[in-house]
Amino acid sequence: MLVAARARAEEVGVVPVSPGAGAALRFLAAVLDARSVVEIGTGTGVSGVWLLRGMRPDGVLTTVDVEAEHQRLAKVTFAEAGVPSQRVRSIPGAALDVLPRLTDGHYDLVLCDGEKIEYAAYLTEALRLLRPGGVVVFDNALWHDRVADPAKRDETTLAIRDLVRTVAESEELTPVLLPVGDGLLAAKKHA
Ligand SMILES: C[S@@+](CC[C@H](N)C(=O)[O-])C[C@H]1O[C@@H](n2cnc3c(N)ncnc32)[C@H](O)[C@@H]1O
Repeated sequence: MLVAARARAEEVGVVPVSPGAGAALRFLAAVLDARSVVEIGTGTGVSGVWLLRGMRPDGVLTTVDVEAEHQRLAKVTFAEAGVPSQRVRSIPGAALDVLPRLTDGHYDLVLCDGEKIEYAAYLTEALRLLRPGGVVVFDNALWHDRVADPAKRDETTLAIRDLVRTVAESEELTPVLLPVGDGLLAAKKHA
């Protein structure tokens, strides 16, 4: 089923989470017994299906994407996966316009997979949105192995490198960098 979603992603130039990252997201949602999850970067719905499979059966995924066409394709993916429509709240728009409208302290998990140079701003929003004990996750934390190479200094690499450092040094967070796919940085907000 996700094979079709991945093909749709390729057609529109979206890179979905890897199967390993997807399994890690499903695991985190299950461990948290997640009822409310925010996803930044719907794409064609690959990561959304993984998250929904780990969440409680009545859990709701709020997913944000600036491209209406991507969200349309994601709805096809969710329908193919048998996800009841009331379990997904799709919000079109730029993440930094939409996130301030979401409820403080309400969410169990926030997945950040939108615009990489906005990751620091997503962290600020996620810390506000998460309940105590909730988890924020960033995909592409290794950024094609560029983050660990000090010679690589393009804007995206620098943004992700700064984000990884900020999360590692935060006294509010307990982090782990999982070497699955392109790197999944997860951090638990202290209770
Ligand atoms: C890497 S893809 C997401 C893939 C998806 N998480 C999955 O695994 O199927 C990034 C998505 O973020 C969206 N995006 C880019 N900039 C954004 C922004 N500023 N706000 C919201 N979405 C954005 C793109 O349209 C694209 O669909």
